[in-house]
Amino acid sequence: MKTLLTGIAELITNDPSLGDGSPLGIIRRAALLIENGHVVWVGATADAPDADERFDVGGRAVVPGFVDSHTHLVFAGDRSAEIAARMAGERYTGGGIMTTVAATRAASAEELRALARARTREMTASGTTTIEAKSGYGLTVTDEARILRISGEFTSETTFLGAHAVPPEFAGNRAGYIRLVTGDMLRACAPLARWIDVFCDEGAFTGDEAREVLRAGIAAGLVPRLHGNQLGHGPGVRLAVELGAASVDHCTYLTDEDVAALAGSDTVATLLPTADRGTLSPYPDARRLIDAGVTVALATDCNPGTSPVTSMPVVIALAVRETGMTPSEALHAATAGGARALRRADVGRLSPGARADLVVLDAPSHVHLADSAGSPMVSELWRHGRRRV
Ligand code: NIG
Ligand code: FE
Repeated sequence: MKTLLTGIAELITNDPSLGDGSPLGIIRRAALLIENGHVVWVGATADAPDADERFDVGGRAVVPGFVDSHTHLVFAGDRSAEIAARMAGERYTGGGIMTTVAATRAASAEELRALARARTREMTASGTTTIEAKSGYGLTVTDEARILRISGEFTSETTFLGAHAVPPEFAGNRAGYIRLVTGDMLRACAPLARWIDVFCDEGAFTGDEAREVLRAGIAAGLVPRLHGNQLGHGPGVRLAVELGAASVDHCTYLTDEDVAALAGSDTVATLLPTADRGTLSPYPDARRLIDAGVTVALATDCNPGTSPVTSMPVVIALAVRETGMTPSEALHAATAGGARALRRADVGRLSPGARADLVVLDAPSHVHLADSAGSPMVSELWRHGRRRV
């Protein structure tokens, strides 16, 4: 079955060899042919090949589905008291993670599944077609494995984040908790995850602790990524580059050496501006990173403490307003950048061979995403060649 989309005012392919030759590879007055869940042809409507069915999108823009490469999808509980205190000026330290850990441990699998389902529905409704999902609110062998099992019902991009915080049972025994994370917990979780992550920051895990955890994960077959440089200048970025991590996420506080190290590496800098908003922090400087040649991704960091956000258009709008990105760069970071951060070549682009994961925007140009500030913007969403929204 061949399906042809026509009437596309601008098609964002993210293939610079196509269309206008920009990084977005924009083809105007375009059509796109789908077969077996994949894009098999893109070009001008006038040159479109025959198809079994045709859909006219009515002069709208078509963009790759958003790749949200950093979410904490599975959690229970509520942090409103902490959020209110922070909005009144209290500093974020990561201490509230334990509130969510207690609620998540107490929730049934069915409750966690229902909460994750509701969040993924919101993500889909706002144009996301690929998500990553971390554990990290269980912090016992059984709770971390349970979160990863549930995460795996929603995505294959699952991340073991046992080193998110030291749980109260291990207060005063950090070394004991690291032994658990790199031992029994890793053995139970590695078969359920593709990635390993650590919260390496002030008040969280040190560079040496993070290195130990990530090395153990690598030895167990997982690929490293990490939370770093969110709360201050720290060793996270340099450790990510040292270990060849796919991505280092947050990057709010960077030295010139950090930027140079990223520029000389394959590690993606994933910016999470809605988390900086939620912690009343400065915003990361995307302009500095892009001008240095660093690959930048944008993601929601969907979590109950710093970023209760599921919408990539909101992240794009905030990134353009606050981090120095152009609308085109922000869209690229939210699609191709996220795909790079997940080392996926099949998503985040709309050229032949890619998965037919796409969004028909309710606008003639992708530029409107930068101005959407929360309105859904999604006219249609297609995943694997089938219309879902
Ligand atoms: O990415 N930084 C660490 N982890 C999460 C927030 C965790 C929480 O406060 O629940 C983040 O911002
Ligand atoms: Fe996070």
